[in-house]
Amino acid sequence: MTYAAMYQQSLADPKSFWEARAAEIPWFQAPTKICEQDANGVWRWFVDGVTNSCWLALDRHVDEGRGDQIALIYDSPATGQVHKYTYAELTTWTAQVAGGLVRLGVGKGDRVIIYMPMVPEAVIGMLACARIGAIHSVVFGGFAAPELASRIDDSRPAAILSATCGIEFDKVIPYVPLLKEAVSLASHKPVHKIVLNRPECRVDLKAEGLTDWLEFEEDAQPAPCEPVLATDPLYMLYTSGTTGKPKGVIRDNGGHAVALAWSMRAIYGCDPGDVYWAASDVGWVVGHSYIVYGPLFGGCTTILFEGKPVRTPDAGTFWRVVQDHKVKSFFVAPTAFRAIIKEDPECKLKSSYDLSSLKYQFVAGERLDPTTYHWLKTHLGIPVIDHWWQTETGWSICANMAGVELLPTKPGSPTLPMPGYDLRILDDEGRELGANQEGAVVIKDPLPPGAFPTVWGDHERYVEAYWSQFEGFYLTGDGGYRDEDGYVYIMGRTDDVMNVAGHRMSTGELEEVVAGHPAVAECSVVGIFDADKGQVPLGLLLLKDGVNIEEAALERELVAMVRQQIGPFANFKRAVVVKRLPKTRSGKILRQVLRKMIDGQPYVTPSTIDDPGIIDEIADTLRVRGVMC
Ligand code: COA
Ligand code: AMP
Repeated sequence: MTYAAMYQQSLADPKSFWEARAAEIPWFQAPTKICEQDANGVWRWFVDGVTNSCWLALDRHVDEGRGDQIALIYDSPATGQVHKYTYAELTTWTAQVAGGLVRLGVGKGDRVIIYMPMVPEAVIGMLACARIGAIHSVVFGGFAAPELASRIDDSRPAAILSATCGIEFDKVIPYVPLLKEAVSLASHKPVHKIVLNRPECRVDLKAEGLTDWLEFEEDAQPAPCEPVLATDPLYMLYTSGTTGKPKGVIRDNGGHAVALAWSMRAIYGCDPGDVYWAASDVGWVVGHSYIVYGPLFGGCTTILFEGKPVRTPDAGTFWRVVQDHKVKSFFVAPTAFRAIIKEDPECKLKSSYDLSSLKYQFVAGERLDPTTYHWLKTHLGIPVIDHWWQTETGWSICANMAGVELLPTKPGSPTLPMPGYDLRILDDEGRELGANQEGAVVIKDPLPPGAFPTVWGDHERYVEAYWSQFEGFYLTGDGGYRDEDGYVYIMGRTDDVMNVAGHRMSTGELEEVVAGHPAVAECSVVGIFDADKGQVPLGLLLLKDGVNIEEAALERELVAMVRQQIGPFANFKRAVVVKRLPKTRSGKILRQVLRKMIDGQPYVTPSTIDDPGIIDEIADTLRVRGVMC
């Protein structure tokens, strides 16, 4: 079937289309009700289906005769280790860890926070939760203690799984102080704190009041797979919105399984037995969907890479992993390749490796800039597939389907909408725009299986943030357009969300921290263009009257505050004092105007602004401070 026929079928008769996809995977009880509205009016998929995501990812492969196949390769240049686990081994280990959780009293519907580096136990922890019907909430290891604390308070976990450290290049990052600080900051006190004592950072866990992971799983009775409804939550994953408070995106079991299992073959061109690698982190949605669940649902071999694209040990490390493990389909954020290009612009290190296994290069997480696209095309000589998606959807909204029909690519475009996504471009009044006209990218209700049905504990926020602007359409938060062939171009966020090195964060979160400095009266954080990270935050500050502080010292203090309260990955490095901030008469700071002005893009100064001269005044200050030229 062609892409076009498949896409048309998915929109003309979504129920039949997804019913057929659901029949491609095994169930404890196959669904008969394919799509129905829940009490909130949200369309839910496979409502009477009964399954278990851990069983689908592990046990059933063993039952189907794939027990001896490698399921997970842990490749860690950070620690110099490579370990391979078969489906049978991973099943046994996961059942044991799940048993450890059950022994602690953790069960169906309980939340478990996983705050871990890229070690196999992180994957096992996720699958163990899925096995017993507990809801995991992975918190990226780069988050500082206050961010972890706010997630503890929102999700109220029964247990936290963690480790004594992460490893960033050659730096050991101790986690125990962060964990302890987070627990002391949080009002909710999780009873069980289980910590993997890594050799790189040994800690006397008992003295710290923490449980050793080895003792926790030792002698535990292996737990069976708990049957759950397709609509029961599998996990929650916090993501940044326009406000300072992150949203707990909920993923269910059935729709997620159907969409991801199908996507492995249809989008990524991978069959059972193929080796698939997403070089991301389990703390992000890419890690959830395509390090853990997708490849394992699809019976593939997945790679857990604890390293960086460069300096672990060099810019050839990706090629080494592709060669050593015979990767067929590889998925990375463009920022990682930009780091490689900086160190090895001619891609010379590639010539030392055999990359004949590699068939597809996928990229996502941020805009694929033309330089990186052409570099990849030239040096890899295989299809370079940009695809666009979000934490909320869990899988591609737009892509080029390697397993169905590879269409010609156009640089700058993630190609066409995936089956199930009725994508439209709307103007501010909700009118549909024609070819090459830029507007809000929205998806017509219903969203396909796998996309989020709600926000943890706050369905009103789900409605308000995503469904209230254009009735009947999901607001992606991205702006863009379609060309005359329907190809989609994503031009960036239209809200106050930034994308820094493939990490999504809100300007509001950063502003809350910066505004907390005693010298700062008011501030605006703007995500500005950066050749390496895509975007980086820039703080514009108004000082309190009478404050006398050296600007460089203030900047240093703010940088330290953001690192301690949000995390170093925010890459907050610049803060500039200005005399005034541009605001509308209703008091809203014009961040988008500032961003465009700083990035040298055309912008329109709204008529509602107090004094248009403020923009030029800020530009002058930023030139003096070397932020703009
Ligand atoms: N734990 C602790 N600190 C972390 C961290 C983690 N998990 N991840 C990043 N950091 C720290 C870094 O050590 C660095 O600290 P420093 O300022 O003290 O040097 C800082 O945060 C900045 O990190 P980053 O911008 O990520 O740069 P990097 O050089 O560490 O890594 C990349 C560069 C490209 C490898 C990384 O940004 C990356 O993998 N990005 C893609 C993310 C992704 O996969 N997104 C999902 C969409 S595909
Ligand atoms: P996250 O939820 O962290 O995965 O971030 C999702 C956001 O990243 C999207 O809303 C986009 O703004 C951006 N993004 C992801 N993939 C792409 C892509 N291929 N092209 C452009 N932007 C992207």
